[in-house]
Amino acid sequence: MKMVDIPAAREVDRLSFPTPARSGLFEHELAGNNIAHYQVLCANGALIGFAGFWLIADEIHISTIATHPAWRGRGLGELLLLNLLFLAYTLPATMVTLEVRRSNEVAQKLYRKYQFEEVGMRPRYYRDTGEDALLMTMPLLNARYHNFLENQQVTLFQRLLSEA
Ligand SMILES: CC(C)(COP(=O)(O)OP(=O)(O)OC[C@H]1O[C@@H](n2cnc3c(N)ncnc32)[C@H](O)[C@@H]1OP(=O)(O)O)[C@@H](O)C(=O)NCCC(=O)NCCS
Repeated sequence: MKMVDIPAAREVDRLSFPTPARSGLFEHELAGNNIAHYQVLCANGALIGFAGFWLIADEIHISTIATHPAWRGRGLGELLLLNLLFLAYTLPATMVTLEVRRSNEVAQKLYRKYQFEEVGMRPRYYRDTGEDALLMTMPLLNARYHNFLENQQVTLFQRLLSEA
């Protein structure tokens, strides 16, 4: 993600979360937070999704991931997550963590597909709705998991090509 991408990212963010990212958050993440890494996904020249994480020692914490509602259900959220997980190996990181709303079954299903496990709960973590956060982790970025990712990538690319 670059500064020029922020207006489109804010729009996807606004359409994706109960409370949008606060004003200036993306700018801070890109320019003032050296542990933050953000990627964008574009189609036909337009930003249609993004994913962000913080690298804390050897741990990746996924801070956000979203696809534009018009582009959901086509494997693109999975593409963003897969890309992020491959990137983790190059940093290198050894584990991935994230928080997800208890009610967000779609995102939880995506994470479970990638073998994330629920390891805890943060009560009333989300101030906007008072909802609990589930803490999920993928604790072992080892060679075996890398093989799993490669297999997932083959399947996903076949799907993306067949639906293009
Ligand atoms: C979560 C999100 C990024 C998924 O993106 P997407 O592009 O719709 O997802 P994909 O099409 O790549 O689907 C990947 C997997 O997610 C799950 N999934 C996607 N849509 C789903 C649905 N409607 N119902 C249940 N599971 C679903 C499935 O596991 C799916 O794998 P499958 O296709 O093999 O069944 C997207 O729904 C989103 O932006 N949501 C709002 C923001 C958000 O909640 N972010 C997560 C914060 S923790």
